[in-house]
Amino acid sequence: MKNKSQHNLYEHSEVKVKLLGKYLQKYFNIMSNTPYVTMVHYYDMFSGPGIYDNAGEGSPMIILRELKEAHFRAKARKIDMSSKYNCVFNDICSEKISVLKENVVASKVHYSQIGTLNYSNKDYKELCPEIIENFSKLAKGEKAFVFIDPYGYKDVRFSEIKDLLRNKNSEVLLFLPTHFMFRFSESGTPESLHDFIEDIVPRDQWPKSKTGLDFVQNLKNAFQAQLGEDFFVDTFIISRDKNQFFCLFFFTSHIYGFDRMLDTKWEIDSEDGRGWKYNAATFDLFSQSNVQPNTSKFERYLGDFLNQIRSNQELYVFTLKSGHLPIHCTQILKKWQKDKKLVATLLNGEPARKSAFYVSWDHFKNNQVAKVYFSLK
Ligand SMILES: C[S@@+](CC[C@H](N)C(=O)[O-])C[C@H]1O[C@@H](n2cnc3c(N)ncnc32)[C@H](O)[C@@H]1O
Repeated sequence: MKNKSQHNLYEHSEVKVKLLGKYLQKYFNIMSNTPYVTMVHYYDMFSGPGIYDNAGEGSPMIILRELKEAHFRAKARKIDMSSKYNCVFNDICSEKISVLKENVVASKVHYSQIGTLNYSNKDYKELCPEIIENFSKLAKGEKAFVFIDPYGYKDVRFSEIKDLLRNKNSEVLLFLPTHFMFRFSESGTPESLHDFIEDIVPRDQWPKSKTGLDFVQNLKNAFQAQLGEDFFVDTFIISRDKNQFFCLFFFTSHIYGFDRMLDTKWEIDSEDGRGWKYNAATFDLFSQSNVQPNTSKFERYLGDFLNQIRSNQELYVFTLKSGHLPIHCTQILKKWQKDKKLVATLLNGEPARKSAFYVSWDHFKNNQVAKVYFSLK
């Protein structure tokens, strides 16, 4: 008999697609509004049927809805979406793909003006090399996003993710059942987990994890070390029960993609920007309005970072790498300025205007030169 969660969409899976949908909303808006992008390829490698028995919507419906909305937003502004979207939904189960096709038609969620819609029912192992090959031939102006949401971790290898990212025009969102992986790594490790880990680091270099959260952090560090400085790795933790941590890993080579993913995480978890807890009040959007971002630790790190003179560009990167948003940085700088602790100087040595910090993507993009230099008294 199949596991119940294969027929119904539960809260912890709902939050998974919520992060996907909220991020894609930003991603599609960016892609649709830039003349530099002509085509976006979206791959959902483990798509499922789109709609579950309890009417919960899975990843394909979420993404198609976001695309449709991006299309109508562009239309309302009387601009042609400059980019076309090629969506591929894949699931090894042909029945699920048939149901998905019916669900897409019945919900009238896709329009030919948006682009093409393709279905396939291949094994991920077969499809992945084909996509990697396609990505190596992406033309200028083509971008790609891949969602990988398997039941387990046995099907997936990090080397595949690395290959999917190689062209630097693609982003990957990967769900891993880290709780089960951690449990196995504590007790007798199954061969499949050894295989997964050895694909990232030699077995004897894999650090011991004391908790499930440590395990997630160790995976993230190992992924980051493997990919190097040109890539950003981010995590979104989903705790299903007490001490059961599952994780979405996000990979991008674009700092603005990283910025937008952080923004999405903070929209869902406005206290820590880190993840979602089962039954936690933080999931209730109404209770979110009073929640303040927890920035005290970041304030300490930022203080240490400003022991040396740093530019607004350096502060932007530091803020994101600390898992925070430019607005958090700006608020702390404002407070320090009010307390007369902050020194903010223009390139010519003059003091900068009050509250003019320029810590944002807009002031970072296109290799803009630094505007302000900061330090603490
Ligand atoms: C966790 S579910 C995906 C849920 C989906 N992302 C959603 O939001 O509804 C995993 C799916 O992967 C499919 N699957 C299992 N093994 C596969 C494989 N080797 N290749 C492709 N699909 C596979 C299953 O049929 C199942 O529908």
